[in-house]
Amino acid sequence: MSKKLIDGKAIAAKIKKEIAAEVAAMIDADQKGPHLAAVIVGDDPASQTYVSSKERACASVGITSSIYRLEAKTTEKDLLDLVEFLNNDPDVDGFIVQMPLPDHINADTVILAIDPKKDVDGFHPTNAGRMMLGLPAYQAATPYGIMELLKRSKIEVSGKHVVVLGRSNIVGTPVSVLLSRKAEGADATVTLCHSRTKNLKEITLQADILIAAIGKCEFVTADMVKPGAVVVDVGIHRVEDAKIEKGYHLAGDVDFKNVAEKVDRITPVPGGVGPMTIVSLLQNTLAAAKKTIYR
Ligand code: GUN
Repeated sequence: MSKKLIDGKAIAAKIKKEIAAEVAAMIDADQKGPHLAAVIVGDDPASQTYVSSKERACASVGITSSIYRLEAKTTEKDLLDLVEFLNNDPDVDGFIVQMPLPDHINADTVILAIDPKKDVDGFHPTNAGRMMLGLPAYQAATPYGIMELLKRSKIEVSGKHVVVLGRSNIVGTPVSVLLSRKAEGADATVTLCHSRTKNLKEITLQADILIAAIGKCEFVTADMVKPGAVVVDVGIHRVEDAKIEKGYHLAGDVDFKNVAEKVDRITPVPGGVGPMTIVSLLQNTLAAAKKTIYR
């Protein structure tokens, strides 16, 4: 792989080995191994794929997983009862409720019902708030994955101008907080851009590190990036492609081919940020089992 590429797949594989060693050590010491539960409501194909890959990732590092598959017509009350059950199940260290939920269920109500000590997605306001204040917290998978990716790729962040495109609660906003914090692997000057930003290109051209998390296929073009910048692409989109047997290929928020020619380092799609997000969930689950965040 070219030195220009930030190889998320390889970095994720290395972290998985580290997690597997820790899990094996717990089991060797006759401790209970980590156990992740995942709840999925309905049959959204993307969610099914995500949950299956989380299940496989757990198995690959020796973490036990249980999947609760509920029908799309499940009531909010029944889902809340299951959340309560998992909150109280001593064998389950952490659990996630896969999003999106069907329209008749209020996702915020469900997230608020999860015990923050078991919220390995880091979605509960207690974890989001603790993260913001720099207190120990389960961090949302994608921001955590991006921070690890930068750290393990030895990309200097301190004092750099990072431009984040997108202000979502699960990516853009938390990653800008993490990057601007006074901490190792952070200390950046961060500009957060969004759909109402006026002079977008003027700002992106100033980025030493550009993080694209806007959910628009190949939105970032070569004329928007400074030569020598580092580009992190969080997007993942299916692009119809008759030349490929499955009928599509994957692309990110960045016009990879043209941008890659201009920059110093760049994450590919797939194989960049994606593999890191699942690893973050495994790290959070291990932390839950070891009770390192909440004692
Ligand atoms: N849907 C898409 N990404 C995620 C995630 O990280 N966690 C949950 N629970 N749902 C998702």
